[in-house]
Amino acid sequence: MVTSLYLQAVLQMRQAKGQQRYSDAKFSGGVRQLSGKHWITPEIRNKAKALVAQMTLEEKVGQMSQFDWGFHAINPDAGGEINNLMRLLIDRGWVGSLFNLSGAEEANELQRKVIENSRLRIPMITGRDVIHGYRSVFPIPLAMSSSWNPGLIEQTAAAASREAASDGIHWVFAPMIDITRDPRWGRIAESMGEDPYLGGVMADAWVRGAQLDRWSDDRRSVAGCPKHYAGYGFAEAGRDYNTVDVSDRVLREVILPPFRRAVEAGALGIMASFNELNGIPACANKYLLTTILREEWGFEGIVVSDYNALAELLVHGIAKDPKEAAELAIKAGTDMDMHSGFYFRYLPELVAEGRVDERLVDQAVERILAVKFKLGLFDNPYVDLSLKSRVILSEEHVGLARQAARESIVLLKNENGILPLSKNIRKLALIGPMMKNRRDPLGCWAPDGKEDDVVSLYDGILAKLSADQVLYAEGCGILDRSREKFDEALKAVEQADAAVIAVGESIELSGEGNSRAELDLPGEQRALVEAAVRTGKPVIVVLMSGRPLAVGWLDEQAAAILHAWHLGIQSGRAIADVLFGDNGPSGRLTVTFPRSVGQIPIYYYRKNTGRPPGGNYTSRYVDMPTKPLYPFGYGLSYTTFAYRNLKLDRTGMRLSDALTATVEVTNTGSVAGEEVVQLYVRDVAASVTQPLKRLKGFAKIRLEPGETKAVSFRITADDLAIIGASGEWAAEPGAFRLMIGPNSEEGLEADFILEE
Ligand code: BGC
Repeated sequence: MVTSLYLQAVLQMRQAKGQQRYSDAKFSGGVRQLSGKHWITPEIRNKAKALVAQMTLEEKVGQMSQFDWGFHAINPDAGGEINNLMRLLIDRGWVGSLFNLSGAEEANELQRKVIENSRLRIPMITGRDVIHGYRSVFPIPLAMSSSWNPGLIEQTAAAASREAASDGIHWVFAPMIDITRDPRWGRIAESMGEDPYLGGVMADAWVRGAQLDRWSDDRRSVAGCPKHYAGYGFAEAGRDYNTVDVSDRVLREVILPPFRRAVEAGALGIMASFNELNGIPACANKYLLTTILREEWGFEGIVVSDYNALAELLVHGIAKDPKEAAELAIKAGTDMDMHSGFYFRYLPELVAEGRVDERLVDQAVERILAVKFKLGLFDNPYVDLSLKSRVILSEEHVGLARQAARESIVLLKNENGILPLSKNIRKLALIGPMMKNRRDPLGCWAPDGKEDDVVSLYDGILAKLSADQVLYAEGCGILDRSREKFDEALKAVEQADAAVIAVGESIELSGEGNSRAELDLPGEQRALVEAAVRTGKPVIVVLMSGRPLAVGWLDEQAAAILHAWHLGIQSGRAIADVLFGDNGPSGRLTVTFPRSVGQIPIYYYRKNTGRPPGGNYTSRYVDMPTKPLYPFGYGLSYTTFAYRNLKLDRTGMRLSDALTATVEVTNTGSVAGEEVVQLYVRDVAASVTQPLKRLKGFAKIRLEPGETKAVSFRITADDLAIIGASGEWAAEPGAFRLMIGPNSEEGLEADFILEE
């Protein structure tokens, strides 16, 4: 029987786990079956079925159980019951999956034990959170999505999986593709931002990169696990784990598209989220896990619960006891239980009592074994120990980390073209708590990252300037409440020609469990920047955070602002590349930056209302503009671009036709630069009110000074489809407007008619 002591141990374990971490889809016409792709071939399915037929019930429910081995390693005395259970399952060779192993050696050792103890010699599948790189830590996903470069996402996902696989990992709990509109939510850092279409493109790239990468030695790749399915990013008030209550339309139009794309790309796993969705917690939610995921989309992989989420069914108040929690979860469609042990303990009884049909168990085990066959684990369960030294932190991966970091940087302000800085500058003051910081650029959820691998901004700048060109003083720590080190920093600013101030958030201010109610710079950092501005010297601010910050004051005061997120191991080099113009900034925001917390939720995908913002009695605030600080899609470059001659090849389009929209983009500045050309559409009058804009395409192009390129987008009825009053996905004939421009608020517009 599970006692409250057990639940306490689980809580402790979650805390310990936290500490340990720190040493649209383009819906092709809407909801319908996948287009005949079977990632799990009939041959694999048959092998899995044949094996299940030989298994005892205990062996089966063992396969459906996953445990956090790292918890055992760091808490050998805590959570006795769960540790005993984990050990029992390993000793009998029954365990389906372990995660958080310490590396390839331990993975092989435990795998050997499991296989040797297993009557049918079934290997386990090992997991790990590999969210934005393994040891080669890449920028946080929110930053990487700002690259608007799916190819880059694909490459980084492949590199991360290659490193993880070389260290004995078969299953990465990524990508995190929760759409969110709330920067208070700490996990926005792990997300790809607010837009379902862009999120879908990135999800597709990530899954293909992570899963389909083949590396020479044994041709094994890893399984992905898009998460958290579903709605986790819509937690009320941005408070992690909070209630989620959204309409089916928002669910299907905004939240689900990236998951659907991930499934279409062949994701072998999906993680069911912690949150309740419209009254039913995700891992007990049959509508999500069976109706939509399996029946509508044809998902063939493993559904795993989030960490101990079966036990949380009791806390949510939907299961009266652990046994009922196990019953609800399996009946909803959860195949694997992460770390509660409930499946192993209660499914045999539930089957014996006739409350759960054994065929449900068989189905889940078949899926789990099929993924193991698909990954080649039966034939090749061990990892070659010589591999990791060739793969981890390889020159290629470090180079990729630098490129990814560069492409993630967003230039928010650049008054009088103060950036890029000249390498001949006489004196540059380098101040702020993020300047020499090598820890926080790793970002949240980088459990395998090492501070020693990180290039600080200071070191990045010193690779471009000589030591006598810089003056350094920290000024204050991230969370400091004291201003005693201000003077030294201000003296440096006064003696210099310009100052670069690196400020932001520490790792603990974003990521899981780390929601914030205030979105300004923490501690005394704002006062430091303001004091530096008062010296009259040009102040260039490098913001490093895991989320959008509401810093309207900064936009008014700083000469330039570079948003540099948490950029991973090559952070300093990449920022210096951009500061000195070796590479221009090309990132564009994938999330709206609010002016104040009171504007949240604020996102571009909004509707017009009956009284759009204007004068009195309109949808506005009396004390604040309704416009955001920086809109979705926004970002500057060191050059300027002009958009001209938007042309449609037709003004009337039939449902079966395609329309081509072409715009000319010219680099009107004096240096080469990259631009992200964005296409938005609006259904002007539909059976259900529609957002003013929906992103439906983008192209990242590079232009030399004076160069013009014509950029074309092909638009089909699929791009225009909405969930109308009938509840079906379809494009509704009538008037449409499209906009092509540099961000969600600027661009050229053209109208066309969709005919029957
Ligand atoms: C997180 C997941 C993660 C899991 C395993 C949970 O706390 O929500 O994103 O994959 O732990 O570490």
